[in-house]
Amino acid sequence: MTTPRFKLHQLFLRLRAEFLKRLRREPPIDQLNRALADRERFFRAPELDAELLAAVKLITPQFHLRANEESRLLWELSQNGSSWGEYEALAPVLEALPTPTRVLEIGPGLGRSVVFFKRKLGWETVPFHLYEGDGDKTRYTVMGPRTNASFCGSIAGLERVLEHNGVDAWEVHDAARNSYRLDTLPGPFDLVYSFYGVGFHWSIEHFWSELETLMEEDSLGIFTVHHGFEPSDRLRDFGCALVPFQRILAKDRPLRMLLVSRNPERLASVAS
Ligand SMILES: C[S@@+](CC[C@H](N)C(=O)[O-])C[C@H]1O[C@@H](n2cnc3c(N)ncnc32)[C@H](O)[C@@H]1O
Repeated sequence: MTTPRFKLHQLFLRLRAEFLKRLRREPPIDQLNRALADRERFFRAPELDAELLAAVKLITPQFHLRANEESRLLWELSQNGSSWGEYEALAPVLEALPTPTRVLEIGPGLGRSVVFFKRKLGWETVPFHLYEGDGDKTRYTVMGPRTNASFCGSIAGLERVLEHNGVDAWEVHDAARNSYRLDTLPGPFDLVYSFYGVGFHWSIEHFWSELETLMEEDSLGIFTVHHGFEPSDRLRDFGCALVPFQRILAKDRPLRMLLVSRNPERLASVAS
């Protein structure tokens, strides 16, 4: 329940986070949502050396991390806890899903969800295809237009984090070598997802005609969406549902994920 005291506390957390952001200081660990941050740790962060730190900063510019153990731990807890928040909301859908033969993640960043899903769901041998692009500038928008200049990943950093976590059966597809097109990827995929990527920073509408070709009758798609998102008629006709999830920073309001599938059974456990 949202009591006035809780609202006041949220406001305090938001103001403090904004103040620290202006000072370019990392948020203290007590800003994390403990219910998520204290869960079993599947994702492990390597030492944040200058190269990895630069990659983390490009992908999560809202965190002002440093090359020290405190920042490494904060990043590890926030990456792992974010995945727990998503997983808790998706558990009924993912646990009812037959083990996929092929998974696609669009914009995996530094691989938190790959590690989390492989470990949590026992998908160690399931092939994960990771569509990412190198970039040197962050150009995030809110459900904005599609552009090839939006990539801000580090393929070397992604590979390094996945290797550090000891997960196998993944392949990175460099967007630049795939003409920035999703339909060049070796689909179809049983599961396609994009967290804080397509659907969130860039409107899913610009990617939909390519995405559709990658999904079969039983495939499931999952996309983080912004507060103001409303599914278009063509998404509704395809089959979709929205599910809220908790976020890792205690100050942040819940967001929603868009689930899409031609098979209504895939969405049955979350559809209202
Ligand atoms: C906010 S990060 C999210 C990273 C990761 N999914 C996570 O939740 O931690 C956005 C990611 O989308 C990638 N990206 C940027 N433009 C893209 C595009 N046009 N298509 C697919 N991914 C894109 C970026 O390179 C970056 O890795």
